[in-house]
Amino acid sequence: MAAELLDVPLDVYRFDPQRDKKPHYAHYDLKLPAHTPVLSALLKVRTDLDPTLTLRYSCRSAICGSCAMLVNSKSRLACQTPIGPELARHGRIVIDPMRNQPVLRDLVVDADTFWQNYRKIEPHLIPDEQHPLPTDRESPMTPEEVDRFQETPRCIACGACYSACPAVEADAAFPGPMALAKLYRFVVDPRDGATEARLVKIQPEGLWLCLRCHLCTEACPKDVRPSERIRDLKEMAIAVQGGSENGSRHAIGFKDNIREKGILNEMKLVRQTSGIAGMLSQIPQGIKLARKKPELLRSPHRIAGQDEVEKLYEILDGDDRPETP
Ligand code: FES
Repeated sequence: MAAELLDVPLDVYRFDPQRDKKPHYAHYDLKLPAHTPVLSALLKVRTDLDPTLTLRYSCRSAICGSCAMLVNSKSRLACQTPIGPELARHGRIVIDPMRNQPVLRDLVVDADTFWQNYRKIEPHLIPDEQHPLPTDRESPMTPEEVDRFQETPRCIACGACYSACPAVEADAAFPGPMALAKLYRFVVDPRDGATEARLVKIQPEGLWLCLRCHLCTEACPKDVRPSERIRDLKEMAIAVQGGSENGSRHAIGFKDNIREKGILNEMKLVRQTSGIAGMLSQIPQGIKLARKKPELLRSPHRIAGQDEVEKLYEILDGDDRPETP
């Protein structure tokens, strides 16, 4: 029996810099079965209605990572996203190019910065000169060592996480979730000879710009969980270098601060993060804040139930997180 056909109202972002002054949406009405992937709907538009529609794709099987785009404002692989649930939820389908990268034409973005960030983390084994790997045979890892990669080998570099990341949007210096997840993969590789150097180098390059919003993990079509690996990198960077950056000092100060009284002491945290000199430089903002919220200047009392907070810390301290290799 033939599958029921749905009415599919499709609005697609169009922009040809050689022809258009500004982007616009083109509307197409299709009739397709619910299981049709968004990519197939776009290819039908291109075949039947408008051969100029420009998009990237290759495998059509969620393997190559080329077809990432925004489907109803969420970063998705178009070949992996069926139209039925999108229509059920939104009543229509709106397609945009990925965020955080300039549009070259229609749904194709310029991925140069994305790949530059990837190259910056040196995504290859760096030999340990004291203990060189054998050149006449393989260097096998134990299953336990392989497990330390977590889900990172699943990454297909589609860029969905990069598109979803507000830290990339706010500061182009941030390497992005994909690059940091790949960095994690090499940091925990027992055959790599540059673990500490990698962790030291990445801190000023933007590790601490991650906001921990987890949008990258939500966007990832392969469940790589970049935000969790960035968290691990931060912990490993602190283990190697202590509080060497404002970001790591802030994390350490925040943790100690809450452990002490169960509530944040804002004034103390500023000093812990930026030092006395940094604190003095923030006096104008401090005065503005104190006018609005004078209680922030007072040292808070220990909260009722601080014992429970302490118990949470004990659980977290015993958590089974990866150790610095
Ligand atoms: S076309 Fe290859 S991942 Fe979608």
